[in-house]
Amino acid sequence: MIKVANICCIGAGYVGGPTMAVIADRCPKIDVNVVDIDEERIKKWNDKDLKNLPVYEPGLAEIIERCRNVNLHFSNSIKEKIHDADMVFISVNTPTKKKGLGAGKASDLRWVEESARQVAKFSSGHTIVVEKSTLPVRTAEVIQSILRSSEEDNELNGISFNVLSNPEFLAEGTAIKDLENPDRVLIGGDNLEAMNALHAIYSRWVSKEKILFTNIWSSELAKLTANAFLAQRISSINSIAAMCEATGADVREVSRAIGTDSRIGSKFLDSGPGFGGSCFKKDILNLVYLAEYFGLNEVANFWESVVNLNNWHQNRISKLVVKKLFGTVTGKKIVVLGFAFKANTNDTRESAAIQICKDLMDEGAEIWIHDPKVNKLQIEKDLNIGKIYNRDSEENKPINKNGRWQFSKNFDIFDNAHAVLMLTEWDEYKNIDWEGISKRMVNPSWVFDARSIVDPIKVKKANLNLWRVGDGTSK
Ligand code: NAD
Ligand code: UGA
Repeated sequence: MIKVANICCIGAGYVGGPTMAVIADRCPKIDVNVVDIDEERIKKWNDKDLKNLPVYEPGLAEIIERCRNVNLHFSNSIKEKIHDADMVFISVNTPTKKKGLGAGKASDLRWVEESARQVAKFSSGHTIVVEKSTLPVRTAEVIQSILRSSEEDNELNGISFNVLSNPEFLAEGTAIKDLENPDRVLIGGDNLEAMNALHAIYSRWVSKEKILFTNIWSSELAKLTANAFLAQRISSINSIAAMCEATGADVREVSRAIGTDSRIGSKFLDSGPGFGGSCFKKDILNLVYLAEYFGLNEVANFWESVVNLNNWHQNRISKLVVKKLFGTVTGKKIVVLGFAFKANTNDTRESAAIQICKDLMDEGAEIWIHDPKVNKLQIEKDLNIGKIYNRDSEENKPINKNGRWQFSKNFDIFDNAHAVLMLTEWDEYKNIDWEGISKRMVNPSWVFDARSIVDPIKVKKANLNLWRVGDGTSK
């Protein structure tokens, strides 16, 4: 049995940070080192004030407090930590390629390749290399061939490797819960000894029947497939939301009705502003690219339609806001509640809010954004319009071609607003005092609830017009 006493994780991001924190917490005898090329990010992981951690996840700060500088370390010492490790997790970003072959669909594997080269160069003795990043099927082959050439060069020094696939299924906002109590842990590989070594780590807190062994290609494909199926459910229910609005049905009732069928199940049937997050779109497009590569065009078209529907749905929401506000939002103040792609995370990657805000600003709206965890700098980056300033304004507000935006950490933003648009389902948005707010908004004004979180009776009682996603009952 290979004994693992020292782990190195390359990549201190949304996956590397929380995953290693839970491993360190559950395996006090293992020394866990998370390394990254990004010095700022590592500084934040080491910040004494736990509010400054680079990733917000409920329960994460408590684990960091318990384990940091005990058996969990964050550093930029990539060479040293790889050298000392018995097991190296590769947990780096794998975004969609922006240019070159496969641009717009294929995954950009340059960070994975670089990580494999670092492992090949710096490791010592026998190292188990674990793919934690989400990767196209057969990426392990690339990693293996980079490592194999190092094995050949270092035969005399006794350097050797095994490669395993161990995709991560955590969702942001519930990462710690998902890691501590996963539905399953998937270990793909062809070397039983190495697979057992990883099994021994997880079995410290995950029951054995939840740890599945597969071949390495099934493991890689299962990760892409899981995300594709989940995203497909959201596009399916969002397509039905549009049908509900057209027919007088209510998508919440339809979801409940179909979700009680045990074959369908009740999860992932909430219609919203369209799925966001760093992975669904990129992983489906990656699947599409692979299907095209293998000449399976019908398969590619099928999965691409899930992304197309999502784009259409986001666009539908901004158009609808304009239409309801008498066909124009030019110069009108719209309060956007929520910028994160879902609640309980500070992550905005691919958030529906980005496209919707941009569309509304293109129409000339003045957007006031609130989010309890996302900071202004991040929004500035996402909207990509922070550098153009309105010279006439004393506050130097950033402006778009026509519209402009403001960010507020507090709730004092409703004065003279024409509409409130709810895009993230944060708990604090669930009990808003609509009566009080309504008095400060212009008359008539609207609440657009893309997350079904408001109480319709209270909103209507406050004399506000209400649109809820998939609600055809108010036609
Ligand atoms: P991220 O961008 O938050 O973090 C990746 C980190 O890797 C960055 O800090 C980057 O600086 C670092 N990095 C890149 N190249 C490096 C190198 N050569 N050496 C050292 N550090 C390097 O990404 P993430 O959200 O953590 O996702 C990582 C992978 O996990 C992706 O493949 C993603 O698809 C997958 N995944 C993500 C989630 C999620 O919820 N975010 C869930 C499951 C799987
Ligand atoms: C998703 C998967 O759920 C994880 O299993 C996977 O590990 C991860 O992607 C990944 O590979 O990155 P995540 O994107 O963090 O996790 O969050 P989800 O809860 O899946 O939500 C994704 C998007 O779908 C969010 O914008 C969310 O608001 C939306 N959503 C989700 C809905 O609109 N309706 C739902 O019913 C559920």
